[in-house]
Amino acid sequence: MESPFPPRDSLWISAPWQGGPRTQTCVPYLRKSFVVTGPVVSATLHLTAFGLYEAELNGRRVGDEVFAPGWTDYHKRVQFQSHDVASLLQPGENVLGALLGDGWYCGYMAWEGRQAYGEKPWLLACLRVRLANGSEFIVTSDASWKVRRGPILEADLLMGESYDARQEIGAWSSPGYDDSAWLPVIAGPSPHPQSLLVPRAGPAVKRIEEVAAVTVKNFPDGANSKGVLIDFGQNLSGRARIRVRSARGRCLRIRFGEALDANGNLYVDNLRGARATDYYTCKGDEPETWEPRFTFHGFRFLDVIGLAEDDEFEATAIVLHSEMAFTGEFRCSNPLLNQLQSNIRWGQRSNFLEVPTDCPQRDERLGWTGDAQVFASTAAFNMDVRRFFAKWLQDMRDAQRPSGAIPLVVPMPVEFRHLPFEDAGPAWSDACVICPWTIYVCYGDTGVLKDHYETMRAYVDYLGRERCLGHIRCHPEADSWGGFGDWLALDGSGRLEGGTPKDLIGTALYANDAALMSRIASVLGHADDAAFYAKLHADIVKAFRLRFLTPEGLVAAGTQTAYVLALHFGLVPVHAAAACARELVRLIERNGNHIATGFVGTPYILDVLARHGHLDVAYKLLEQETFPSWIFPIKNGATTIWERWNGWTPEGGFQDKSMNSFNHYAYGAVGAWMYESVAGLAPDPAQPGYRHVVFRPRPGGGITWAEASLETAHGLVAIRWDRDANGLRVRLTVPSGARATFHPPEDYAGEPRTVAAGSHEFTLHRRSRASSQPAPAAAGDEGCPVVA
Ligand code: BGC
Repeated sequence: MESPFPPRDSLWISAPWQGGPRTQTCVPYLRKSFVVTGPVVSATLHLTAFGLYEAELNGRRVGDEVFAPGWTDYHKRVQFQSHDVASLLQPGENVLGALLGDGWYCGYMAWEGRQAYGEKPWLLACLRVRLANGSEFIVTSDASWKVRRGPILEADLLMGESYDARQEIGAWSSPGYDDSAWLPVIAGPSPHPQSLLVPRAGPAVKRIEEVAAVTVKNFPDGANSKGVLIDFGQNLSGRARIRVRSARGRCLRIRFGEALDANGNLYVDNLRGARATDYYTCKGDEPETWEPRFTFHGFRFLDVIGLAEDDEFEATAIVLHSEMAFTGEFRCSNPLLNQLQSNIRWGQRSNFLEVPTDCPQRDERLGWTGDAQVFASTAAFNMDVRRFFAKWLQDMRDAQRPSGAIPLVVPMPVEFRHLPFEDAGPAWSDACVICPWTIYVCYGDTGVLKDHYETMRAYVDYLGRERCLGHIRCHPEADSWGGFGDWLALDGSGRLEGGTPKDLIGTALYANDAALMSRIASVLGHADDAAFYAKLHADIVKAFRLRFLTPEGLVAAGTQTAYVLALHFGLVPVHAAAACARELVRLIERNGNHIATGFVGTPYILDVLARHGHLDVAYKLLEQETFPSWIFPIKNGATTIWERWNGWTPEGGFQDKSMNSFNHYAYGAVGAWMYESVAGLAPDPAQPGYRHVVFRPRPGGGITWAEASLETAHGLVAIRWDRDANGLRVRLTVPSGARATFHPPEDYAGEPRTVAAGSHEFTLHRRSRASSQPAPAAAGDEGCPVVA
């Protein structure tokens, strides 16, 4: 699409002031008055910013996007939004106004200070109007606009927003307003002339939901002031709308946090450098309501100080995230697993804000590639994430290095370019191949594969060229940077990277990349490439076996994740798979039926166990209530997924505050297994996008019923099963346009059956023990990877 901004007439405009690398400044209010000479037929307002903007026309807010224009690598592209504003215009004087926030462009970025992309925010606007008499005119951002400071003294995504209601400036974006004392704006060409102007690609961030306070407690705060502590009952991303009645000039400090400490006070140590604090100065006497515009926090609790004894204060949490339909539901008879599903969903909601971030609260909030990769298939069950990922994959293309390397985080803010390595390493940079494949499998979207094909190719070729020695990736003799290992695994004697060798992880993921590339090339009709990557895959598998397997075919490294990866990615020979699986079970049993895997092994461990005849052990892990487990945080009040298994323990209290988020979705990757195997609803990579649905429930543990549903492009797909001593009652829904196959669980009689569109209900009877079939062989044994 061509840019709607006329290159000669529209200029980028800004305020004549700016902050510094560690100093914030106030939000500029910009306005332009113009005349409409007759009735309007159509009017479109195109807007974008380096920074964030909110626009107003004749005193009314334009659109409902939050944090427009979104986050991209502003050096390469910036998105614009287009709004039909005909109904907001009137004959005579009209006023177009905008506020400019710092956002990702020049606000604080992770732990690096401000101004990652530029020094101050800039606006670009173009209003195109057609009148009834056939004439057309445009109003663009240019030197004729005016600017002034208003009540927003500072606004930053990480730090918070400060608002002095005494400095409000009235109906500043309405006609008839006197702007004679306003300053002229600074106007000029784009500060990033190479940057493409593109229409918004992904879903916009919106105000999605309001959450009321669950408990409100007053506490004394010095002689003349009271404090209030509010619990919203749910950890989330967003901000608070407050309603206060207090005296003019009283300044409230409103802090946000995820937890309370042992004394019941707000715990903010884990936020690191994120101030996550708003300040509000009252104009006084009447009740006043305020919600910040250019910040968000990750929080369940807030506390406020600065109120007088008789002051009134209320707060409502406003949930913010990228707007995506909720497509999937999972429920079962175990309420703790239902809470786990809720925590996974809230983890997703809290972190799918513009890009998939690691966490919403501390001074980080970055698009970590590894986290997104492990969670992508779970994400695609819960919400329609197709456009969200398509946009992020474009960000990834922008972030790819000339060498083909994929960086740690996407977008990659300039500041991090000083890192001594350019490749994110195993399981992180592989997001480049795994994410498009996952989106293709879940939505049947070949476009995403096409768009990303050259990027994937360049990436995998780079791995072979620069990151491998004899097909071993991150070979310790050739490479000092081995990546993050099995991040936060508990088998590393305290080391964050866990105990699984990095070259093993690297080579396993490299094998998966090659196998997926071969399948992707086939899908796209690139037969030569398909053969090339199939051969590469076979060579990597050979190298893996030589280096990492014992002569009997066991995995020499002997960690849970080492076994999980070797089995999941089909790296052990068929004859050794059963022995490897038994070894994995022994490791788990020796650990008291507890999981020890980190980010890399966790997504696959239950599936590997189930596929290799150890469904009982998979359920022991899933339903395990003691530390470490998925349920342990829930038993301790978690409403989102914790970054670390040991984020808080009764013995140790809070983990090291330097890295302890309570809202990281990575371990929530177990969600896909709950849909696919507990309930039994999965996509089929061979007929993606649920053209063919795989119903393969694996009832087990203490669960007596489970159900899942998913809104697909073809319509609603659903399964429910109930079991008792005699049998398994199954209900299926298949939409027209789709086909399905039902695979009876091992313990039940019956053959796989084709299921036509419609609703179906049937009962399966338990097999007698003797006639139970052996576990099906793993679909990866010969090196054919299962969808990641
Ligand atoms: C982030 C992650 C990320 C990791 C990489 C952390 O600081 O929060 O989730 O993947 O670093 O090691």
